[in-house]
This record gives sequence, C-alpha cells and structure tokens, in this order.
Amino acid sequence: MTKIENLIRPHLKCLSAYSSARDEFSGKAKIFLDANENALGSALYPKLNRYPDPYQLDLKKAIGKLKHIPPEQIFLGNGSDEPIDLLIRLFCEPKQDKIVLCPPTYGMYQVSASINNVDVLDIPLNESFHLETEKILEQADPDCKLLFLCSPNNPTGNLLRPEAIELLLSKFGSIVVIDEAYIDFAKAPSWTKRLSEFPNLVVLQTFSKAWGLAGLRLGMAFASEEIIGWLNKIKSPYNLSSLTQKAALKALNNETLINQQAHKILAMREDLKEKLLSLPFVETVYHSDANFLLIKTKHADSVYQSLLQKEIVVRNRSQIKQCEGGLRITVGTESENAQLIKALQSFNPENHTS
Ligand SMILES: Cc1ncc(COP(=O)(O)O)c(C=O)c1O
Repeated sequence: MTKIENLIRPHLKCLSAYSSARDEFSGKAKIFLDANENALGSALYPKLNRYPDPYQLDLKKAIGKLKHIPPEQIFLGNGSDEPIDLLIRLFCEPKQDKIVLCPPTYGMYQVSASINNVDVLDIPLNESFHLETEKILEQADPDCKLLFLCSPNNPTGNLLRPEAIELLLSKFGSIVVIDEAYIDFAKAPSWTKRLSEFPNLVVLQTFSKAWGLAGLRLGMAFASEEIIGWLNKIKSPYNLSSLTQKAALKALNNETLINQQAHKILAMREDLKEKLLSLPFVETVYHSDANFLLIKTKHADSVYQSLLQKEIVVRNRSQIKQCEGGLRITVGTESENAQLIKALQSFNPENHTS
C-alpha cells in the first residue's frame, strides 16, 4: 500500500490552508472582535451572529463517544456528498488519476468525478450484485486513487460480502471508501471497527437515513488521523452551520429511538416485500439490507407513470445498466405503504404499452 502522503495531489501538499479568525485563537475570551460579525445580532436569531466552530469539536466528541472513534478520526460535512467530493479533490489529479466504481451504485460518485474532471473506471457488480474482486485488482492501475464501495449498496439494497471488501482493502494499492449510508438498517458491523487495521480505509455515514435528518445535511467520514487532517485542510472553513451542529448534538441523545425506528422500518420492509411479490407484474423483489426495495418488472416505465398519476413517486432505475426494469421503492409510513400497494394493485399492464 502506497503511503497516504504519496497519494495526495502534489499541489495540495504545499497548500497554505485558509486560517479563519476562529482558527487563530484558542482558550477563553469575553469579547470577539476578530471576525467582522454583527455584534448587535439578528433580531430573529440572536445567537446566530457568530461563526460556528469550524472543526465541530463538541459534535465530533459526541459522535466519537457513540461510535468509539476519536474526534481526530472524524470529518463532518454538508451531507456525505461533501466528503465524496473532497476525497476526489484530495486524491485525484484531473485527467490523470481515476476513481473505480462498481455500478449499479450511488450516482454521486460519478457526478463528483465528472465535476472534478476525473475519469472513472467502471467494474460492474456481477449478476447477484456482488463485487468482481479479481477484475478490480486486475484492471486497476496506479492511477486509480480511489475505489468507492457502497454497502449496503444503493440502488440494489444488498450488503457487499465482507471477504471481498477485506481482500480489496488489503490488495487495492490506494484508498478504499466504504459508503455505509444505510448501515444502521443492516445486520452487519460497520467497517469503522477495522479502521486501525487499514490505513487506506475511509468509511462514510450519514444522518440522512436511519437518523431521520436528511434536511439537516450532515455526513460523516471516518478514517486515519492523517486522511482526516487532509480533509480538514481542504474543506471550506465553516462548512457546518451552528444550527446543524446544535440539532445533531441534541439528536444524538435519541439513539434508542433511532434503533427502535430502524427495527420498525425493517418489519415494514418485509411486509411491503411480501405484498409486492404478490403483484402479478412484479418479477423480482431483490434482497435488501437497507430501508428500500428494488423490484424488477417488465413494465417499469408504465408502473412509474401510473404511480405518478396517483401522486406517488418512486425511483425509476430502469434505464441503468444491470437495473433494467428496476424501480427502487423507499419504505414509507404504514399509511404510505398501504396507499402504494393499493395503487399498484389497480395497475393493469394490459392498459399500458411498455
Ligand atoms: C449510498 C449513499 N451515499 C450517500 C448518500 C448521500 O447522503 P447525504 O444525504 O449524507 O449527502 C446517499 C443518498 O441517497 C446514498 O444513497
């Protein structure tokens, strides 16, 4: 495995990171005249006149306590989409380096790579949506700086096999990112438990799924102190608002409730799966370790349109390679699931052309 320092884009190694007003001061102070804020404050939000903590230390300590990870190994971003982008910016020289993806998978890896003018080497999952480890190791060259693995995978829903991930962590010469956005729904340990074994491992998690806080925009990256240090160096100074930090700190006290909810969502998923399977036009409901189900039907586009007419939106994945005929359906509330099933029961393929 190449040293992390040698994987960083050369021009970033000598970057003088922006030093914010709050970076340059530590300790206690009574009067803050260092950041050109409005000292009189906002009438509506009097406590928001100050810049937030740029390193979100209280929140990192609380997350770290919950996950048994030191704050120095935690990066917090505006959703996990922020660390996805920053990792590409940190490791990949445009038009020279590449990232490796295993489609069908989460679309933002490709989009972030394109925004950064970084090429993608696609090594698709096999027919059972599992990793082609040998092909990845054969085809990835030293310019492949990042390998993105999504487990449980979106849109297929399945966990990737731990033996395959472990092999890639040992043999892929560069950084392996495991996106665990849906891990709280899966019956599998997080790869954060293995951080000390693999210096090239980055684990992504989010408050958008099981934590029920997609509107907050809070994502987490866990990695070695060295990688987290680099991410902190290139992030924008105040990337998380005070409101986000405060709300997340409060939400962390609710872990028991979150676990209960995840449990309930899984029970509802199984119920939904059974009902979907009973529909004559549904060919397959794939195994899921997440809070959504991928179904396969010959009539994906017309099912999608007929649901839209009833103001029900699912995700049409039928145009994606290896997901032909695929609709991804999030588990909703009991009432939403019942309405979905009712709408699907009234769908008649014979009234539609596709
Ligand atoms: C696999 C995966 N990773 C990351 C994200 C984005 O998460 P966030 O809301 O934290 O940006 C999603 C959102 O759907 C996802 O499915």
